[in-house]
Amino acid sequence: MKHLIDKLYETHDLSKEEFVYLLQNYDQETSDYLFSLARTYSEKYFDKEVYIRGLIEFTNYCKNDCYYCGIRRGNGNADRYRLSKEEILSCCKTGHELGFRTFVLQGGEDPFYTDEIMVDIIKSIREGYPDCAITLSIGEKTYDQYLKYYEAGADRYLLRHETANEEHYAKLHPGSLSLSNRKECLRNIKKIGYQVGTGFMVGSPYQTPECLAQDLAFIKELSPQMVGIGPFIPHKDTPFGDFSAGSVDLTLFLIGILRLMLPNALLPSTTALGTLDPKGREKGILSGSNVLMPNLSPIGVRKKYDLYDNKICTGEEAAECNVCLRNRVSSIGYKIVEKRGDFVEDKTS
Ligand code: SAM
Ligand code: FES
Repeated sequence: MKHLIDKLYETHDLSKEEFVYLLQNYDQETSDYLFSLARTYSEKYFDKEVYIRGLIEFTNYCKNDCYYCGIRRGNGNADRYRLSKEEILSCCKTGHELGFRTFVLQGGEDPFYTDEIMVDIIKSIREGYPDCAITLSIGEKTYDQYLKYYEAGADRYLLRHETANEEHYAKLHPGSLSLSNRKECLRNIKKIGYQVGTGFMVGSPYQTPECLAQDLAFIKELSPQMVGIGPFIPHKDTPFGDFSAGSVDLTLFLIGILRLMLPNALLPSTTALGTLDPKGREKGILSGSNVLMPNLSPIGVRKKYDLYDNKICTGEEAAECNVCLRNRVSSIGYKIVEKRGDFVEDKTS
């Protein structure tokens, strides 16, 4: 199997059959080899620096009904909330004082936030924090909507494709959502000039190694600047409440693969990884990731942004999380830095 890892390291790609073979047969020795090569790239491009993104979960209302998601429209037990512009700006203020230079506005697809309201929020952050990047993660919009937000000052957009296999997509989402539209959104986001992030859950119900190989092929084709992956974790009040969580080891293995595929990409070590394994985020960094996305949402709403069961960091203040993460990162020999952490083209290869 090492020869496949070497090939991926050198060519940044494998065939679908080769990816499937790796995913079905990897063991600890292969993983350790993969992670050591992944770290040579992350250290080459990021020099043991870890970027932080302040996540502001500003609404848990959603018009969609994704079967895996705890804040889906159909979950009558969700305790819904929305943050005002002033509350969002107050999160940015706290974050800026703590050293954050990227803010991520994430939420369900909530029609309350019209384009006018979103543009006003984006412009206010842009004016108040000119040294910071603004990332949006608010789902599927039209080309014109994405353009409006971009012109208002947003720099980056996160929209996981969730799965690149049509049949699998239909098993995770109701008929109102389609893979083709998701892909179209991603292409539009990229065309406009955003730094684009996609990704998927590892171990979502009905996922097969072939689905994952298709995910990797789609990512190669899209060539995004950011890729976020994390294990699926069941939420008790969703149709997938009785499914098992995804595997931490497989998630780490896929982070290593993504680092070899996209050597200079921004790859977060996700909260979902830290939820399933107390050292999950550290392990993610040691597998090739270079970004952390701590929560900046007000303490009173954190538990309500309840995507999956037992989500971590819902009881601590932003400042406490900040200290905790800095310690965790330094314990493995890396360092959190006060930078925007934009994607940088590699002109050397
Ligand atoms: N509405 C936006 C969107 O759809 O892109 C952003 C919010 S959505 C909750 C953010 C991500 O959470 C999704 O892309 C999905 O991959 C992840 N997510 C949702 N439910 C999850 C679960 N049960 N386990 C792990 N990740 C989950
Ligand atoms: Fe919309 Fe999860 S169903 S954010």
